Amino acid sequence: MSRPLVVDVHTHVYPPSYMAMLRARKTVPYIHDPASGEPRLIILSSDDDPSIPIDERGRPVDTSYSDINVKLTFMQQHGIDCSVISLANPWLDFLDPAEAQQWAERINNDLEETCARNNKSSNPDNNLPLQGRSTLFAFATLPLSAPSADIIVNEIKRLKTLPHIRGVIMGTSGLGNGLDDEQLGPVWAALEETQFLLFLHPHYGLPDEAFGGAEVTKRYGHVLPLALGFPLETTIAVTRMLLSRVFDKFPRLQILLAHSGGTLPFLAGRIESCIMHERKFVENGGDVPGPQRSIWEVLKTNIFLDAVVYGTAGLKAAVAAGGGTDRLMFGTDHPFFPPLNEGEKEWLSVTTNYKAIDATFEGETEAVAAVLGGNAARILKLE
Ligand code: URA
Ligand code: ZN
Repeated sequence: MSRPLVVDVHTHVYPPSYMAMLRARKTVPYIHDPASGEPRLIILSSDDDPSIPIDERGRPVDTSYSDINVKLTFMQQHGIDCSVISLANPWLDFLDPAEAQQWAERINNDLEETCARNNKSSNPDNNLPLQGRSTLFAFATLPLSAPSADIIVNEIKRLKTLPHIRGVIMGTSGLGNGLDDEQLGPVWAALEETQFLLFLHPHYGLPDEAFGGAEVTKRYGHVLPLALGFPLETTIAVTRMLLSRVFDKFPRLQILLAHSGGTLPFLAGRIESCIMHERKFVENGGDVPGPQRSIWEVLKTNIFLDAVVYGTAGLKAAVAAGGGTDRLMFGTDHPFFPPLNEGEKEWLSVTTNYKAIDATFEGETEAVAAVLGGNAARILKLE
């Protein structure tokens, strides 16, 4: 049998315009250019530690973050036929309200043009199947700090007119008060109406205290924030959506959770049980009912998971929670987690996920093909 289509739904870019914006900043998030060596990306609050010399803070940021040709080479080296690119964290969360709309339009137009230019050159007649031709689509970014929700809604509607946009990527802060904020109603409604997939991705992690304080966090570099802070942040955000009945009010909302849902698949039973035992919640001084739809139903109808979890245990939990293999989609998290040794072409982070998929669905050719690309092509209408 021919090899299956491979689609990467979790792959980031910082377009050159965004890099220039970060370079002009001196507070998190920012890029610092040392006198020698690669520029440094300081985006997590734990990165900006004054006890670390500025030239060593954060992580090196090479051309793989902003040069689309580097991503295309990476795709070819790892057998990826199609990538759905998204702006990396922290998106536009930190922008002054007056600048948000302009930047969102600029970044989203950049993403659309990058995809259009690339796809035209790889397939001038636009009539070939996806396989073997390095195609690009994109998840757009939203002006979440804009002064009114109307601006966000208008951008979602405008995005529907851009042919390569297949959804939007968003962090967990929403309009500043998390994803259970009632003010987000018009945004959920617009996403529901357009049937755009919302790619929910972490950035803020957990406070240092959760790990034993700043000293402990620092001792282990990015391990605690990225391995634990990120997945817990996603889990908390989507649980708050569930608790505030977002999925009751917007039952057609479609969400892709980063990193196989953080810990949601593993904890779903516990979350559901705690909701049942709580019975009702207190809001504005009065009792309100808890969510009417069960977490299992939401997982099967509103939530998709990526397969960026680096092991069979996580993948099995993801499949069990989602009720099958048709809601799971391959991803790489490129350009984060690059090869461990200089000059290495193969990314360990990517081969680990490929191997985990093979080991989890051993002998199930159709399941492997679905997870690697079939699901993404169907769900995101990538043809
Ligand atoms: N680190 C980040 O900051 N973002 C990612 O997406 C992955 C790792
Ligand atoms: Zn990511």
